[in-house]
Amino acid sequence: MNKKIILSGAQPTSNKLTLGNYIGAMKNWIKFQEGHDGIFFVADLHSLTVKQDPKTFRDQVYSALATYLAVGIDPQKSLVFVQSQVPEHSELAWILNCFSSMGELSRMTQFKEKSQKVGKNIPAGLFTYPVLMAADVLIYDTDLVPVGIDQKQHIELTRDIAVRMNQYFGIDLFKIPQPFIPEIGAKIMSLQDPISKMSKSDPVENATIFLSDSDTQITKKIKKCVTDSGDQITYSDSSPGIMNLINIYACLTGESTNSIVERYRGKQYGHLKVDTADVVVRFISPIRSEIDKIMQDRGYLDKIMAEGAIRASARAEVVLNKVYDTVGLPSRLRR
Ligand code: AMP
Ligand code: TRP
Repeated sequence: MNKKIILSGAQPTSNKLTLGNYIGAMKNWIKFQEGHDGIFFVADLHSLTVKQDPKTFRDQVYSALATYLAVGIDPQKSLVFVQSQVPEHSELAWILNCFSSMGELSRMTQFKEKSQKVGKNIPAGLFTYPVLMAADVLIYDTDLVPVGIDQKQHIELTRDIAVRMNQYFGIDLFKIPQPFIPEIGAKIMSLQDPISKMSKSDPVENATIFLSDSDTQITKKIKKCVTDSGDQITYSDSSPGIMNLINIYACLTGESTNSIVERYRGKQYGHLKVDTADVVVRFISPIRSEIDKIMQDRGYLDKIMAEGAIRASARAEVVLNKVYDTVGLPSRLRR
């Protein structure tokens, strides 16, 4: 079995995953799970870098897992698990922390943005989080990491840490992973501010489409989305709201952006909004029902989680044991 190893994850930070998560990342996970060795996990430890309500957090983790399954991640084909249930990730993260520098971590754009939002008492975990992400990737000898553009810098850091340790120890300890970033849809924008990313935690009403939104909510959000005051449908940076709608449309239908622009030539913005809303409703509606159905069956989700964790640990410990031996720690105990 010499298939390429594809790994990715998403944070269960809010109640549900977004259309941006799907288009930027998960759509490619599903594509890659055919013919590759896919590893997809719910990055719950990452979510703890900002405060979570313990009353709802566990539900969010289950809901993220249900969403993975509902969009088409198949546990028969791919390895699916929850990060906190595979302690090898945190073990490796500690060692990688000792080979990462404060300087490189303080250059991470996401840290700068998120720490600004937190303001005072910035958790150290927010600062070192990209190192845990590096551990997630390196512990499985990953070849390719399908993510949205916002994660590119973290994958570059992962590569830097891996290369550094390989050179320091003079062996091929870690495989050097590559990011996979889609040409279109790597950054789906907020519907209310089309120059910022569509985000789960955006407090602005109508900015984000969730995979759990009702048909009415989706239609309302898209109809109200912010565009410029022009009236010609063009695909250009000067019309970011329209460009965002065209990207969403293209990614969900497979039609090229050029052909969409051609079809809407001379038509008003309203036409594109109505049709995009229709495309998104048709896409999300069955996913929403599937998430609801899966969430009714906690036993099934528990089983997927437990089986995934056992298989993931067995794979993760191969690299982790090698790391223990390489850095000179006593051999990892088998329990
Ligand atoms: P997160 O929600 O930050 O855990 O992101 C999970 C995955 O979705 C990552 O690969 C992100 O790069 C991707 N992603 C998140 N938001 C967007 C967005 N608005 N557009 C495209 N990709 C996104
Ligand atoms: N940090 C990623 C995000 O916020 C989620 C994530 C955690 C991830 N570990 C990963 C993505 C490893 C790819 C590979 O979107």
